[in-house]
Formats: sequence, C-alpha cells, structure tokens
Amino acid sequence: MKYRVTSRLPTTLICVVVLLRIAGGAEPLPSVLLGGIGNVANTATNFLTGVVQRQKELLHRVTDIAAEYITNAVERPRNLLINATRMTTGVIDSAASKGLEFKLRRFLEKFRARMRNGIPELGIPPLEPFTLDEIDIDTDNPEIGKVNLVIENLELRKLSTFLIDRAKLSLIGPTISINISIPEIFATGYYNITGILGDMYPLRGAGPFETTVRDFRVYVNTVLGYARGMYMKRFDLDFSLRAIKIYLENFMGGEKIGQIMSKVFEELTPEAMDIIKPDILPPIQDYVASQVNETIHHLNMRDLFRVLLGEYEFGDITHFLIP
Ligand SMILES: *[C@@H]1O[C@H](CO)[C@@H](O)[C@H](O)[C@H]1NC(C)=O
Ligand SMILES: *[C@@H]1O[C@H](CO)[C@@H](O)[C@H](O)[C@H]1NC(C)=O
Ligand SMILES: *[C@@H]1O[C@H](CO)[C@@H](O)[C@H](O)[C@H]1NC(C)=O
Ligand SMILES: *[C@@H]1O[C@H](CO)[C@@H](O)[C@H](O)[C@H]1NC(C)=O
Repeated sequence: MKYRVTSRLPTTLICVVVLLRIAGGAEPLPSVLLGGIGNVANTATNFLTGVVQRQKELLHRVTDIAAEYITNAVERPRNLLINATRMTTGVIDSAASKGLEFKLRRFLEKFRARMRNGIPELGIPPLEPFTLDEIDIDTDNPEIGKVNLVIENLELRKLSTFLIDRAKLSLIGPTISINISIPEIFATGYYNITGILGDMYPLRGAGPFETTVRDFRVYVNTVLGYARGMYMKRFDLDFSLRAIKIYLENFMGGEKIGQIMSKVFEELTPEAMDIIKPDILPPIQDYVASQVNETIHHLNMRDLFRVLLGEYEFGDITHFLIP
C-alpha cells in the first residue's frame, strides 16, 4: 500500500482577458435619412416585442398556476409524509439510542478483538500491527518551511488497546459518532527527511526511527448513505495527542544539533501538530474515507446494521431511515 500526501500553497492563476471592440468604418449617409429609417425600425420592433411579451406573460401565468396546483397536490402530502417519518424516526431514535450506543460499543469491542487477524469477510486486513509500505509527506508551509519526509515500512503497534470514550449511533442519517483514545502507540520504520526548516535550517537525515505517542485521541463522525451500496455521505475526522518521544537514527548526520532539534520538536508537538494539521488532515481523511467506502460499498443498509449490531436485531426498522 502506498500513501502519498502532497500539500502545497495554492498557486494563483491570474487570467486577464481583454476584449477590444473596434468600430468598423461606416459609409457616410445623410443623417436625416438615417434617423427616418431608425424611427420606422424602432416602432416596428416595439410593436413586435409588445405582442411577444404579452403572449409570454400569458403563457407564464398559465404555467405558474398549473405548477402551483401540481405543487400543492404533490408537495403537501409529500411534506406531510416526510414530517411524519421524521417524527417517527425521532421518537424511535431517542428511545433506541441508549440501546444502540451499547450495541455500537459491543461492535467496537468485537472489532478490537479481531484487529490482529483482520476481518476477511469485510476485506479488512490485519490492523495489529498496522503497516504501511510508504508515506510521502511533502509540506510547503510558511510557518514550518519546505520539508519532504518519506517514511518506509511503517509499523504501528498497540492500536488495538483503544478505549471507547464515546459511541453514538443515530438512525437519522444514519449517523455514527465515535471518540476513542489510545494510551500509547509505538511506531517504527525508516525515515528520510530533507528540506529547510523555517527558511533557515537545512534538515537532513535518513535511517531507522522509533516513536512513542502518548494519549492519542481520535474523533470520527460519519453520515452514511446508500446509492447502489453503502457509502459515507459525510466524514469528519479529528485527532490530537498529548506527547511524543522520537528517536531518529542519523538525524543531521548524528550530530548534537539533531538531538536538540528532536527535543525541541518533542516539546513543541501539541502546538506543532495544530500548525501542520490543516496540511496533513485532509489527505488522511481522504485516505481513510476511500478505504472505508471501498469496504462498505458492497453492503446494503440491512447488512450494515447486521454487521454493526449483530444478526437481525434491527428487523425491518431500516425502512424508516430517511435517505
Ligand atoms: C413540515 O415541517 C416543517 C418544519 O420542520 C414545516 O415548516 C412544514 O410546514 C411541515 N409541513 C407540513 C405539511 O406539515
Ligand atoms: C533521501 O532522499 C534524498 C532526496 O529525496 C535522496 O537523495 C537520498 O538518496 C535519500 N537517502 C536515502 C538513505 O535513501
Ligand atoms: C470527542 O471529540 C470531539 C472533537 O475532538 C470533542 O469536542 C469532544 O469533547 C470529544 N468527546 C469525548 C467524550 O471525548
Ligand atoms: C464515498 O463514495 C461516494 C460514492 O462513490 C462518494 O460520492 C463520496 O464522496 C465518498 N465519500 C468520501 C468521504 O470520500
């Protein structure tokens, strides 16, 4: 699997279109004659415009009345139906949400137990440890600088120790909202960094690395949709971490300055994360969304609830869902 992240400052493209209108040289004609022709033409045009305009207005009025009639005949009952469905769904939703929350938690716990071997029936590969062949992060950020970071053979351990802080499943949408936290993640791999930090410090280094992330929190909110298969109509993702420990072998040629830079980066991590998040979050979000989309697209609403809640526990309630 190869994961490419590229973010650059927007390139400004300025298009200027200049229209030159050049008046052609008209033959000189007596102005009285010209005026006379002009008057006749204007009167005729006004007459014709008037006729056409009146007919158009008449036609519009007929169309408007017909449209209004049809709208009232069709729209009103439709609205009533939608409102009724929405109300019913709302009642069911609030009544069921406690039970749903419990079931969503149970699903996440089952999922956690299966992270080591993956879930072949859903095409999900083993996630403990989680591995990625290559990540290429290219950032050109005025506050950080121009940095290229390539990470190879990334391995993340302990993802399956996640704790569920909040799990909400609503029938409206349906919407799934989850907060999880992972007390500690252990990452290893090979890195290669080049670039200029803040227009001043050249960065260089390549070799193995080890990183420990503490108190990693993830928030996911998704609204699901159905169009010839399930997909994520909306997907919000956010994350934060409290602390990070980094060991980069051979960073800055193994000199003292490299150790100092790593220390500074460790100290600054929560703030630095906030600065680079706008650059790195959208591509991560797209990557996760496309992976999840691919996983769920062959399911229908009922399959999905079966997967989330266990066999048949939802019965025929799914037809209440508003598309
Ligand atoms: C449906 O509900 C909306 C507001 O939720 C309301 O404005 C509208 O009048 C309702 N329609 C009907 C037909 O009751
Ligand atoms: C690191 O990347 C640079 C440029 O991207 C490349 O020239 C260099 O060979 C790489 N180093 C290693 C050890 O792969
Ligand atoms: C869930 O995450 C959101 C977004 O980061 C945050 O605002 C909210 O407080 C979190 N809730 C819990 C219970 O952790
Ligand atoms: C998921 O797939 C659908 C349908 O192909 C697409 O419209 C949607 O943008 C995708 N969602 C995300 C969050 O990428």
